[in-house]
Amino acid sequence: MSTGSCARLELRGVAHAFTPGAPIFQGLTETMSPGEVWAVTGPSGAGKSTLLSLLAGWESPTAGDIERIGIDTVGWVFQNPHGQAHRTALDHVVYPIIARGTARPEASRRAEHILDELGLRALAERTFAQLSGGEAQRLMLCRAIATEPDLLLVDEPTAQLDRTNAATVNSVLRSLARIGAIVVVATHDHDTVASCSHRLTLDRAPVATGDARS
Ligand SMILES: Nc1ncnc2c1ncn2[C@@H]1O[C@H](COP(=O)(O)OP(=O)(O)O)[C@@H](O)[C@H]1O
Ligand SMILES: [Mg+2]
Repeated sequence: MSTGSCARLELRGVAHAFTPGAPIFQGLTETMSPGEVWAVTGPSGAGKSTLLSLLAGWESPTAGDIERIGIDTVGWVFQNPHGQAHRTALDHVVYPIIARGTARPEASRRAEHILDELGLRALAERTFAQLSGGEAQRLMLCRAIATEPDLLLVDEPTAQLDRTNAATVNSVLRSLARIGAIVVVATHDHDTVASCSHRLTLDRAPVATGDARS
C-alpha cells in the first residue's frame, strides 16, 4: 500500500453510455481519498458495477475523466466469486502474500489472521469448491486484503450474508480504509451504507442537461 497521503481518485464530470446518447449516469464529480469508505448506491441496472470497472480503469468513461493519483494496487471483489476449485481457502490468501516477497511461514500466519478476521479460519483447509457463495465471496475479500490494495472495489459484498457476517465485512472494510486504502462498495444494503463514510447515488433519474456529448 503506498503511504503518500496525497493519493486520491478524482472523478470529473464522469458519464458512461453503452448506447450512444443514453448515459446510465453522468456528471459524477467526486474526490475519493484514503481512509474513506464510499457506498455506491442505486437500483439494479443503475450502473454500480459499471462505475466500479471505470474506477479500476478497466473501461474508460464515455465523457469526463478519472484520475488515479498514487494508486498502485487495485483490489476487486466481484459479486460472483471466482476461485480455484481444488485449492484450499488458505492457499488463496497465502499466494498473494508470498508474491509480495514474504516467506511462506510468515505468509501463512498473516493469511490465517486475515481469514480469522472474516470468520473463515475454520475453513482454511477446505477447497474453494466446498465453500458456500457467501464464504467464497468473503474469501475473495481476504485475498484482496492480502494484496494490500491502495484502492479496493467491492461489489455487493453482503447480499449473500446473514447480519452477523455482514457486520463483520462492513467492519473489515472500515479497518482497511483506516490503514490507508480507498474503499468503494456497490451495495443495496442499508446497514452497509450506514457503515460507509461517503455515499455516491446513481438514481437513473433523467438528467435535464444541454450536454449532448455523452
Ligand atoms: N457491457 C455492457 N454492454 C451493454 N450494456 C451493459 C454492459 N454492462 C452493463 N450494461 C447495462 O448497463 C446498465 C448498468 O449495469 P450495471 O453496471 O451492471 O448496473 P448495477 O450494477 O447497478 O446493477 C444495465 O442496464 C446493464 O444492462
Ligand atoms: Mg451490479
